[in-house]
Amino acid sequence: MVKKLVAGNWKMHGVSSDVAEIRAIAEGSRQYPSVDVALCLPSILIHRAVEAVPGFAIGGQDVHHAEKGAHTGCTSAQMLEDSGARLTIVGHSERRDAQRESDDEVRAKAEAALGIGLDVILCCGESLDVREGGTAVETVLTQLEGSLPPALAGGAELAIAYEPIWAIGTGKIPSIAEIAEMHAAIRGKLQERFGAAGIQLRILYGGSVKASNAAEIFRIENVDGALVGGASLKAADFLPIVAAAGL
Ligand code: PGA
Repeated sequence: MVKKLVAGNWKMHGVSSDVAEIRAIAEGSRQYPSVDVALCLPSILIHRAVEAVPGFAIGGQDVHHAEKGAHTGCTSAQMLEDSGARLTIVGHSERRDAQRESDDEVRAKAEAALGIGLDVILCCGESLDVREGGTAVETVLTQLEGSLPPALAGGAELAIAYEPIWAIGTGKIPSIAEIAEMHAAIRGKLQERFGAAGIQLRILYGGSVKASNAAEIFRIENVDGALVGGASLKAADFLPIVAAAGL
């Protein structure tokens, strides 16, 4: 069985006084060595967090695809790595929507991060219109077709996060059958793209994961962990999700 990964996405939350909460999450996570745990923080908080919780996986939430240059406000893979980050999210729907990031751009970001040795959580997911229109699976597979790197190289890990946009921060989640169907389809796409290595890649579910639904979600085939937004901000909410992944 694949070791589960539970990653928190703090989005635009967190200042220096929240480092105590990061420490509580890191220390609490040690009780669950059978689960990989990570927190993806605002980039300005990464270095401070890395110093506060050595050995715990801290990541970014986005990365620019270019090595360096005239890209005001952006962060390169090397900068993330230099600040002590071990991973980064790419292609979150909040960036695909608000920053109009294309599949091509997401793929370039993933390649830049993997190339420097950062693990990558690459997000995909459909809108409510698409879900209701009955084309969720083909839409997500098309998104992955464009967003996945052409090959896996080097030692860094690529994980996929399936995050239906309509489930993010809404308290709604797809049915167990819908999650199972989507994760199986994503597994198929990963095998098609990467061969046998595609069987090993972790596929996370994201969107309104909380203590009360985590265990049920983690029992679904091909669900290898979770990407958690709101419920990752407090150790009291997040650690029960980590515990559920260890069951
Ligand atoms: P949520 O966010 O857990 O608050 O729904 C998940 C995400 O956007 O990664």
